[in-house]
Amino acid sequence: MLLVLKPNSEELGREAARVVANAVRRNPALRLGLATGSTMVGMYQELARLHRDEKLDFSRVVTFNLDEYLGLPSNHPQSFHHFMRQNFFADVNVTPGNIHIPDGAINGDYQRYCACYEETIRNAGGIDLQVLGIGRNGHVGFNEPTSSLGSRTRLKVLSRETIEDNRKFFAAEEEIPQCAITMGIGTILEAKRILLLASGSSKSAAIAKAIEGPLTASVTASALQLHSDVTFIVDREAGAKLKQQEYYQRVLEMTAILTPERL
Ligand code: GLP
Repeated sequence: MLLVLKPNSEELGREAARVVANAVRRNPALRLGLATGSTMVGMYQELARLHRDEKLDFSRVVTFNLDEYLGLPSNHPQSFHHFMRQNFFADVNVTPGNIHIPDGAINGDYQRYCACYEETIRNAGGIDLQVLGIGRNGHVGFNEPTSSLGSRTRLKVLSRETIEDNRKFFAAEEEIPQCAITMGIGTILEAKRILLLASGSSKSAAIAKAIEGPLTASVTASALQLHSDVTFIVDREAGAKLKQQEYYQRVLEMTAILTPERL
């Protein structure tokens, strides 16, 4: 596990974009797992800038989004389809046929649909780099507390806390989705490399539990402790409750000397 502490959310976004851009430069056909949420916006903006100013080429990159609200059509302003178009895909040259986002408007055989999403990931050769945010309750994707740590892509009922956190994005009279389709923890853990971003004091307890707490389905991000190549990039506020900060700094310094290609 590597922890990179950044002073603020702007620098966090730039650092995350640097890691993703390096991965794309190393492998132009990178299979890239993507996330939504306000934490991601700075990273997407910087990736768009690198595309514009430095010709970072996404034409062969294949993307897989983590999740989508159930019941929202892709043109709904609060859908993750819409978020991805607005914040990233409209500004870069990802080939439309290479974009995969769970379809929140499907009706009926959800299990079959979710199994197909998994199969599409497998057939593409698996995910090389998965970017994650984190919920206040420690969820990744929409894997709410008590999710099985071996779970696969499936329907998930959202917790009250997550529904409340998302209320601000919806109009007052609008119904907030109660369910989502999300990659499972088992799906996420199969990615070759994982990059988790967290910003702001509301995430500090979740970050401390995910990194230093016990492995538990009550904080599904703690399952990342089982993965061999995870990098957390957090800003000062989100990292404020971590106890071993001095140790993480030394790990980073030694990594820069011994295996700089990991950075
Ligand atoms: C939602 C998404 C998560 C994301 C989280 C945090 O719950 N399903 O993938 O990590 O929001 O969002 P924000 O970055 O806005 O705090």
